[in-house]
Amino acid sequence: MAVALLVAAGRGERLGADGPKAFVMLAGRPMLEWSLDALRAVAAIERIIVAIPEGFDAPAGTVGVAGGTERSHSVRAALAAAGDGPADQPILVHDAARPLLTPAIVTATLDALARTGADAVVAAAPVVDTIKRVHADAPGLHVEATLQRHALWAVQTPQVFRRDALERALALPDDVLAAATDDAGIVEQTGGRVHLVESPRENLKVTTPVDLRLAALILEERC
Ligand code: C5P
Repeated sequence: MAVALLVAAGRGERLGADGPKAFVMLAGRPMLEWSLDALRAVAAIERIIVAIPEGFDAPAGTVGVAGGTERSHSVRAALAAAGDGPADQPILVHDAARPLLTPAIVTATLDALARTGADAVVAAAPVVDTIKRVHADAPGLHVEATLQRHALWAVQTPQVFRRDALERALALPDDVLAAATDDAGIVEQTGGRVHLVESPRENLKVTTPVDLRLAALILEERC
């Protein structure tokens, strides 16, 4: 049986809301409740651990744990709260900032982990924009290269892992974890094999106010 870790402890400063992003009201409910609905609907998930900001309560039927300084530290705290389990146990990590998660996406990632025998499987969508890389330090956004779009995928959550691969990755030093923008990236750094599974672009991440408006529209359409 799988364990799900929902990370909801971020401040979400780019959204400009009063409180933490995961608790911002979205289509009538705190944002994290939408992801929880999708996770609760999948029978293969036996337990849900939620990394929450200080002063907030764990949602009903979940185990709450205080989040860490950066996202990966929150994932590490949530995994520690999940207790022990077999090395090949699937551990699913999802950002509460992606409230358009569906049970079908969750099941597709879990199935792909079992089918491929990979260390990690990541939900991702093909990139639709042309991506240019600029000189990081030069003034004027000077273009260095235009990347081959057909080889580029925009990574989402859920990301599912064999427990031993995720534990190995989360044992990396604190500063390496702090620099990580996704968990599969640190599994790659420890030599793990990572696969993608195609997921709809609709499983978007709420970062700025325009994302919140779009997510609300889609959720109202679904209800
Ligand atoms: O800030 P960002 O949108 O990249 O955060 C992604 C997810 O990680 C969010 O769901 C956020 O609540 C969570 N997070 C966390 N602990 C942190 C930072 C972010 O749980 N320290």
